[in-house]
Amino acid sequence: MDSIRIVGGEALKGTVKVSGSKNAALPILCSALLPQGESTFRNVPDLRDIGTTAKLLTHLGLEVEVAPPVVKVRSNGPANTEAPYDVVRQMRASVLVLGPLVARHGHARVSLPGGCAIGARPIDQHLKGLEAMGAKISLDHGYVDASVPSGRLRGADIRFDMVTVTGTENLMCAAVLAKGRTTLTNAAREPEVEELARVLNKMGASVEGAGTDTIVIEGKDALHPVDHAIIADRIEAGTFMVAAAATGGDALVDGVTLDQLTAVGQKLRQAGVHVEREGSGVRVAGKPPFVPTDVTTAPYPGFPTDMQAQFMTLMCLAEGRSVITEMIFENRFMHVSELVRMGASIDVDGRSATVTGPSELQGANVMATDLRASASLVVAGLVATGETNVLRVYHIDRGYEHIETKLAGLGATIERVKGDG
Ligand code: EPU
Repeated sequence: MDSIRIVGGEALKGTVKVSGSKNAALPILCSALLPQGESTFRNVPDLRDIGTTAKLLTHLGLEVEVAPPVVKVRSNGPANTEAPYDVVRQMRASVLVLGPLVARHGHARVSLPGGCAIGARPIDQHLKGLEAMGAKISLDHGYVDASVPSGRLRGADIRFDMVTVTGTENLMCAAVLAKGRTTLTNAAREPEVEELARVLNKMGASVEGAGTDTIVIEGKDALHPVDHAIIADRIEAGTFMVAAAATGGDALVDGVTLDQLTAVGQKLRQAGVHVEREGSGVRVAGKPPFVPTDVTTAPYPGFPTDMQAQFMTLMCLAEGRSVITEMIFENRFMHVSELVRMGASIDVDGRSATVTGPSELQGANVMATDLRASASLVVAGLVATGETNVLRVYHIDRGYEHIETKLAGLGATIERVKGDG
């Protein structure tokens, strides 16, 4: 497995272009199961998770052509409706085929994703919603089997017990081909949900209210294929913003709107980082030590859990105590022990981590079992003295397109080392 070798100490300067959003692309590619014919998606990032989704859709009988940033998906007739364990265990987001398959084919059999490095992550809300729409759900041999006795889902009023991003996306995809009206309340408001709604509406669906907590969908008899360019990745952008600030740099993170990064921008400013809109991007400049800043993760528009680890690295460089509280996932502090090995002072108590800084981080061999935790270690490596090797870079490749090339473009001393991680 590859690793990433970093020699810390360079202030990041220049311009970095943000890629297309992973978490928008995944449900959108799965939504190509809904219409008959060929859809074209542009600005798709070149990531391992996109490859896994292509493999899954191919297994389901679609023709998929992956030539990033363009992906074409052709859906022809009857499909295979089973998403096997072998694929789902590689990527939990595989569960996003459940809604489209049940809606279009009246049946789906999808391996239960099970727990993962960041928590238990059940899918009860997805199943509750499909049941309310008339699907019969059974669980056997580690699979969820959903079938619609009448052949077609029917609209329903569904209230989520908690905010779930892929749960909202799955039920939106189910509802667009259901008979009648579906109302989703306490829905996720993430920009990726809004982007999926845009794509579904381009397909001829009627989805209103995406981006608010109430989404109303009028089911249609059929949808048609689309040509769509996917929005920029706000989490990749946020990661570069933190990296530029942490290294004492000054960079333009280009191709993303600050509107989707309001909470991150606010917390960075509170920490003493300069953040402003510039042209089609965001200018970020920072100089450690930073002002200690408490952060609590929350569903959008709150501070994203996917930025928690990177922000914690920044707080290792703040003068004083900051408390970082993780409210979305119960086990998303895997980066803590690795940051401590690099010289950070962090105490975890339940859902909160108290960071006491400033620490002089030192290069080390580190690894993490989650994508964003790995990204926080890359940021730590960029500011540490000496050499850091981030092992199991496989996780980073799931969600960051060519991260070493992009950071090298900003002046970092960073390279991918083939095959020894
Ligand atoms: N939850 C339930 N039951 C459900 C669904 C969710 O209890 O049926 C719980 C989860 O266990 C969790 C909370 O609700 O505690 C929120 O989970 P959510 O369903 O929103 O997470 P997700 O849809 O599985 C997406 C992103 C994650 C991101 C979270 C939160 C995709 C493909 N994944 O996951 O992204 O952290 O929303 O914003 O969109 C990442 O990119 O690194 C990543 C993990």
